[in-house]
Amino acid sequence: MSKVIIMDHPLIQHKIGIMRKKTTSTKEFRALVAEVAGLIYYEASRDLPLADKVIETPLMKTTVKEIAGKKLCVVPILRAGLHMADGILNLTPNAKVGHIGLYRDEETLEPVEYFCKMPSDAAVRHIFLVDPMLATGGSAVAAIDLLKKRGIEKIRFLCLIAAPEGVKRLQEAHPDVDIYIGALDTKLNEHGYILPGLGDAGDRIYGTK
Ligand code: PRP
Ligand code: URA
Repeated sequence: MSKVIIMDHPLIQHKIGIMRKKTTSTKEFRALVAEVAGLIYYEASRDLPLADKVIETPLMKTTVKEIAGKKLCVVPILRAGLHMADGILNLTPNAKVGHIGLYRDEETLEPVEYFCKMPSDAAVRHIFLVDPMLATGGSAVAAIDLLKKRGIEKIRFLCLIAAPEGVKRLQEAHPDVDIYIGALDTKLNEHGYILPGLGDAGDRIYGTK
């Protein structure tokens, strides 16, 4: 079964608290999405393999560490994942980026795919799939289905807020994908929104409601 890692760092808890407030502005909300994503990524990248590399400092040769192999790929689920990707790219600007376009049908709550574009070497990279909200889990499961159909296997999923229902569905569908969560909330409401949550993440990032 996959690992579920719930963040307990005070900075993350503090910033998510601000994001939850309905009075937080679009500008501040957007900045916080990127900041919190970077902090979660710090934890989610903790076990990346390192390799030794010999370099020269201004004084002498020495051996330093660098992340081994073909490295990293960030994959935001559109729309709301895009700003999480920005926060991650601030820390690892050389990571490649794939995009998956999915939206939730408002009636059925099932994900509808509209876009998928991945780097050609994504299968040999560590994939950080990001979406602020893990609600029913339908979008995350569908995104990972799409990646696996392309032969992409080394996947971690990062979200800001999760509902227990989404965590369960994702773990059952993809027991090999570790899940990194900023805050684990109580439950879903009858419209599939996370409670207490922060509302519609895409609308709050882009000011579309
Ligand atoms: C939101 C969110 C996730 C999805 C989570 O996106 O960003 O992708 O809902 O819900 P689920 O776990 O029940 O699938 P939305 O469908 O609102 O699309 P948007 O990002 O384009 O606004
Ligand atoms: N999508 C969101 O943006 N928010 C929720 O609470 C659930 C799904």
